Amino acid sequence: MSRPTRDLDNTVALVTGASSVSGQAAARILAGRGAAVALVARRADRLQELGGEIADAGGTALPIEADVSDREQATAAVARTVEELGRLDVLVNNAGVMLLGPIADAPVEEWEQMVEVNLLGLLYTAHAALPHLLAAANEGPREVADLVNISSVAGRQARKGSGVYNATKHGVGAFSESLRQEVTRRHVRVSLVEPGAVATELQGHNRPEVKEQIEKRFEDMDILQADDIADAIAYVVTRPRHMAVNEILVRPTQQEN
Ligand SMILES: NC(=O)c1ccc[n+]([C@@H]2O[C@H](COP(=O)([O-])OP(=O)(O)OC[C@H]3O[C@@H](n4cnc5c(N)ncnc54)[C@H](OP(=O)(O)O)[C@@H]3O)[C@@H](O)[C@H]2O)c1
Repeated sequence: MSRPTRDLDNTVALVTGASSVSGQAAARILAGRGAAVALVARRADRLQELGGEIADAGGTALPIEADVSDREQATAAVARTVEELGRLDVLVNNAGVMLLGPIADAPVEEWEQMVEVNLLGLLYTAHAALPHLLAAANEGPREVADLVNISSVAGRQARKGSGVYNATKHGVGAFSESLRQEVTRRHVRVSLVEPGAVATELQGHNRPEVKEQIEKRFEDMDILQADDIADAIAYVVTRPRHMAVNEILVRPTQQEN
């Protein structure tokens, strides 16, 4: 069996939402390619378990319990990563929530949660990480650094019944493009990965009637697995220094929109 390329040796990555399958898969693939990985989410038990698994496979992992929608906790998670692992080369902003349903009569708390996690949480970690990513791009070993924001097909296309989720993911797209222009000359690559339907816990947090509709929409489809998205993330962050993959949209083959 061929061993994976260790093209992230001597680098450090931070993955948010590392307690569920997408973040776990991203952390595993980055660790497998040599990065020491900080694992950030609220469910500490799951982070510990993944950290143990990565260590058993010969990698380095640092579980950090944090709510990214809290500015202090998000900032502290980045600071602790740099304190304990020494630097930061790759930030994967993966934590997110998707609470769907029509806008009229929607529980506004659901909107607040999506804005707080998908937008503010991502902004807090990006802001805290940026000086370290700029330093990593300046110092090597790769002389380039990566900020990968996980958006969605919903960040490209609005649909009825997902207005506020669409708004947060379109916001992630706008922020990413603006930041990309600001830092790309300094070799920090800002990229968007935009998945279609992936088998995760995401839809499970919806109200029963909404969940039923989502399940119906994808019931006859062979949807994506977390490893499919992790592959895309690994591709983005392991390109040569002169090449920036700014955006990857990955749908299940059968997903029309
Ligand atoms: N699944 C899909 O079909 C799909 C499609 C397109 C885009 N996406 C995007 O992919 C990303 C990952 O989602 P997923 O599908 O893996 O969903 P998931 O299974 O529900 O996982 C969400 C992750 O985000 C973390 N999280 C939520 N709120 C948080 C907070 N306040 N602070 C820290 N971490 C928080 C959760 O950890 P804790 O609960 O432990 O904090 C969990 O690890 C999201 O940005 C989502 O929008 C998913």
